[in-house]
Amino acid sequence: ATARNPALNASLMKIVFATNNAHKLAEVQAVLGDAYELVTPRMCGVEEEIPENQPTLEGNASEKSHYLRACTGLDCFADDTGLDGAPGVHSARYASDGHDFAANNRLLLRNLEGVANRRARFRTVISLLVGDEEHLFEGVVEGRIVERESGAEGFGYDPLFVPDGCDRTFAEMSPDEKNAVSHRGRAVRKLVAFLRARGEK
Ligand code: IMP
Repeated sequence: ATARNPALNASLMKIVFATNNAHKLAEVQAVLGDAYELVTPRMCGVEEEIPENQPTLEGNASEKSHYLRACTGLDCFADDTGLDGAPGVHSARYASDGHDFAANNRLLLRNLEGVANRRARFRTVISLLVGDEEHLFEGVVEGRIVERESGAEGFGYDPLFVPDGCDRTFAEMSPDEKNAVSHRGRAVRKLVAFLRARGEK
């Protein structure tokens, strides 16, 4: 594989994360702390949308990390997240093209009108490519979908999701509070523990 920007190889502390979502980037960087500096696909010259055409979170995370590896030649990781529950949301493209969070939230509320069981679960899978190895990490949080949106933090379904043991939506929490219990926070802490154990700190 040819690195599109070989200068990024200069520091071991840098790791490519397959997202251009500023919220995700900030959440993950907060968990990684100072030990690693996240590099975005755009910073590596990868401007195109990274393909995610697989039927599972594992498949999509893996497809994204392998795509970035092929483009950059660098160690990298990708995450993929799904919100499961009644009536089930399996995709970013729930309401439309997947980038319209407000439309997704409106549709989710409409589909849950009159539905008593509002249990839901976020699950994140991370695929990490280091050297020749791929490692997967999972994070899950159980909770429920509330009746109306609350809060302005975060992104996506955050204004509608209240994790178990809490009385606020993710969108009413600071980034640190969300990371402490969230699907992505849990998966990223596993990734960090793995990297530390591997001596790549
Ligand atoms: P993806 O992992 O970026 O493909 O996310 C799939 C869908 O889940 C998108 O519609 C996101 O908005 C939503 N999503 C992913 N992570 C979160 C989260 O932490 N909070 C709320 N919604 C999320």
